[in-house]
Amino acid sequence: MMRSRIARLILARTSSSSCRHASSTVTERREQEPPPYNPDIKDSSVIVRKKGVEVLHDPWWNKGTSFNYVERDALGLRGLLPPCEIPFQKQIERFMTEYEFGIAHVAPKDETVTPENIRKWKALESLQNRNEVLFYKILLDNFEEMAPIVYTPTVGWCCQNFHLIYRQARGLFISEKDRGIMSSLVHNWPAQKIHAIVVTDGSRILGLGDLGVNGLGISIGKLDIYCAGAGFHPSRVMPVVIDVGTNNEQLLNHPLYFGLRRQRLEGDAYYELIDEFMRAVLARYPNVLIQFEDFSTNHAQALLDRYRDHHLVFNDDIQGTATTVLGGIYGALAVKGLSASALASQQFVVCGAGSAGMGVVSFLAKAMSKHGITEEEARHRFWILDVDGLITSGRDGHVPDFVRPFARMDAELEGADLLSVIQHAKPTVLIGASTVGGLFTSDHLGEMTKHCDRPLVMALSNPTSKLECTSEQCAAWTKGRGIYAAGSPQPDCVYDGKEVASSQANNMYIFPGLALGASVGKAKVITDAMLMKASESLVDCITAEELERGSIYPKLGSIREISLEIACSVIEQAVRDGVTKAESRAVEVLAEQGREGLRGFVRSRMFQPNYDPLVYVPPGIGE
Ligand code: NAI
Repeated sequence: MMRSRIARLILARTSSSSCRHASSTVTERREQEPPPYNPDIKDSSVIVRKKGVEVLHDPWWNKGTSFNYVERDALGLRGLLPPCEIPFQKQIERFMTEYEFGIAHVAPKDETVTPENIRKWKALESLQNRNEVLFYKILLDNFEEMAPIVYTPTVGWCCQNFHLIYRQARGLFISEKDRGIMSSLVHNWPAQKIHAIVVTDGSRILGLGDLGVNGLGISIGKLDIYCAGAGFHPSRVMPVVIDVGTNNEQLLNHPLYFGLRRQRLEGDAYYELIDEFMRAVLARYPNVLIQFEDFSTNHAQALLDRYRDHHLVFNDDIQGTATTVLGGIYGALAVKGLSASALASQQFVVCGAGSAGMGVVSFLAKAMSKHGITEEEARHRFWILDVDGLITSGRDGHVPDFVRPFARMDAELEGADLLSVIQHAKPTVLIGASTVGGLFTSDHLGEMTKHCDRPLVMALSNPTSKLECTSEQCAAWTKGRGIYAAGSPQPDCVYDGKEVASSQANNMYIFPGLALGASVGKAKVITDAMLMKASESLVDCITAEELERGSIYPKLGSIREISLEIACSVIEQAVRDGVTKAESRAVEVLAEQGREGLRGFVRSRMFQPNYDPLVYVPPGIGE
């Protein structure tokens, strides 16, 4: 044993010294004559007769993130892979880490995502990669259980770790590197028709901050809900991430991060890039609906304002949240036996003057003005607090433009605390979008209950640890009279022997149906009136039994029926608003004739996850 080890050492020494000798001989010879030609060394290039996704989906040819840019351009792969090339060795390391420690080796940071959720996510993801019909059948049949796995909150973990768990190309990657060539890149996408795009720049993924190119996970998750919840055909949706860099140092320093390694692009260059993306996708897919997702506050509203009067776009964080909250308030009115018009007489206290809180407030004010009061009068029904207390005209320092119209005129109340505001304003609705867990106390809710028989409490801040109060606290502090909804799921509870429902203000109620209606109805734009109709029709989906229990939203399990009703209402309103395209005359006629025919038409456009017979037609025929 010892002898053989020594022998190996000697051999190694001898061969390395002979190598040194040989290399000096080569150097000397190079100076005099060209290197010898070795006819035994063959060109290792391999001929490929496939392009695009066919290469990526063929395990024999696929190199995944290791394809270099010469190959990507030649094989039509640009846009189908993350922008940064990952060396072969790094791919090996990524796999070996998973092999050794499993996919859940990165601990979830959000308490609502458990290793068990991740295991289930992986099972669903691998099913989706091999059989989409089966995937959607299972997702739809178990929607309430599985939506939190394919979408939020589990999708947040996926985005945080996208560079570690990446396995199969899905979605379109556009980056700063593609400036000037985006049209050709969009043509690399295999589908001839696309009905819906969800696009993010990864700058504010859920509550998790800037995740750069990893944000693609949220576009994928959201479109899974479009397909399961509203029947968009899985082959006609396109998840997109626009990689403009990231300010997340942890990702920038990670060897496996495959986004651009640069700080985020800002200013005109940023908007020019997004404009180019819009032009490129609309040139190829002129009727597509584009949903903006998880853009940072400084860009989200500006982008919405930039495109919403020209194209079929919406922003779920701004418009979807507001529409969902309004739907919940209509639901609470229904629980109290009141009609939608009672919205105009509600009194609101809102904690949180950020994008979520103020998006909700300005939309509610517009909706109230539909019910017999002016928008000016509606604004007087709001009391807005931020971290410094009540916002009034007496505030020193900067008040953002979108908050100023809602500042109270009673300057002497500037900075008043929540309890004083509740005593003064006597609200019927208390909304929390403050990001402060436990902000609402027994004093606050007790005070509210003194003057309101059935107060509505909406604790919207996510995740669970940031809820302003829990369902149990609300029930206890309002003596079971509070109507409660939260941003994250909360259990129903029992007070004094009576079951008290807890609802979830989940945007999932709205965005699938809204998008379906806008798409099937061939709307040119999405108007506020269309959004308001979506909120109103949500209430019609709550059963009498659910209302009796105090639920302000219907059960998510009936998502297809909810989406169908919302879609019909959205189409009807689009027709009333005159924003449908000329070619949608048939839909217009149906919308004018009544709900039944329209419902049948929209339903016929919804993808059903069934095994339909497949018929072979050779390429080039009937395309
Ligand atoms: P943000 O950080 O932009 O705004 C937070 C606001 O709360 C700021 O105006 C801040 O001054 C205020 N605030 C902080 N402490 C406060 C206190 N003690 N009292 C009153 N106000 C206080 O956050 P953003 O984007 O507006 O989101 C707020 C929350 O809403 C987040 O937790 C987010 O997860 C949640 N959200 C929930 C949704 C839903 O349930 N469907 C949808 C969108 C957001």
